[in-house]
Amino acid sequence: PMLYIGENVGTKNGPKVDIALDPLEGTTICAKNLPNSLAVIAMAPEGDLLNAPDSYMDKIAIGPGYPAGLIDLDAPIADNLAAVAKEKGVSINEVTACVLDRPRHARLIEDIRATGAAIRLIGDGDVAGVIHTTDTEETGIDLYVGIGGAPEGVLAAAALRCIGGQMQSRLVITRDEQVERAHRMGIEDIKKKYTLEEMAGPDVLFAATGVTDGNMLQGVRFGRNHISTHTVVMRSSTGTVRYIKAQHHQLEKFHLD
Ligand code: FBP
Repeated sequence: PMLYIGENVGTKNGPKVDIALDPLEGTTICAKNLPNSLAVIAMAPEGDLLNAPDSYMDKIAIGPGYPAGLIDLDAPIADNLAAVAKEKGVSINEVTACVLDRPRHARLIEDIRATGAAIRLIGDGDVAGVIHTTDTEETGIDLYVGIGGAPEGVLAAAALRCIGGQMQSRLVITRDEQVERAHRMGIEDIKKKYTLEEMAGPDVLFAATGVTDGNMLQGVRFGRNHISTHTVVMRSSTGTVRYIKAQHHQLEKFHLD
C-alpha cells in the first residue's frame, strides 16, 4: 500500500539504484512473536536486482564453501541432499533441509524424509530460511528448498551475494494475468531458471533488522527509555558483514509516528 513495484522514489539527483524491500518479512511470525521476522532492504545499481513480480518462486539454496554447481533446482531433492552430504563428508541423515510448512510441499517433504535427511519446517519467513544456510553451525540448516514469495527470493539472493552461497530459482506463474504482468515487467521467459548472479548483481547492499528474536538477529526491545534494534548490513563488493546494535532514545516515550 505504501510502495508499489516499479515506484520511483528519491530526489532524482543521486545515482539510480534498484531497491527491493520488505518492511515486515514474516507478518504472521511477528504477530505470534515467533522467531525470525525481519525488516529487510537490498539495493544495487539500476538493473542489478531481478524485477520480480509479486508471485511465487521455486527456490533452492546452500551456503558458502561448496563447489559451484553442486545443487540444481531441477534435480531430484534426494540428489541435491546427497551432493551436500558428500561434500560435507557426512551421511545424508546428518543434513538438514529447511522448508516452508505448506500443503504444497507435502510431496517434497515426503521425498526429503525418504532420504533420511532432517527437515526444519518453518511457518513463514523464507528470507531468513535461505540466509540460515550460510551459518550451518549456528542454525543447523544446510539447504533451503521450496516455493515462497518471488520478492523474498530476490532479497535472499542479495544476502547470499554478500555472504556467499548458491541459489537457483524459477518463477511459479500459473494464471494468465500473472503471465501478462510478468511480460509487462520485462520478463519474457516465465519458465527461466535463474542463477544467484541473475537475481542479484555483483555490487549489492543488504540490510536486515530483527523484528522478533531470531538465529541471526535479536528482535526489537522496548526498554524504559529507549528502543534497541539489532541490524546486519552487508556489502557484496567488499564482503563486509557488519552487525549494528542501536539504541533509539525516545524524546517522547513510545512516540513512534
Ligand atoms: P509475509 O511477511 O508477506 O507474510 O510473508 C511471509 C512468507 O512466509 C515469506 O517469507 C514467504 O516467501 C511467503 O510468505 C510464502 O507465501 P505463502 O504464505 O503464501 O505460502
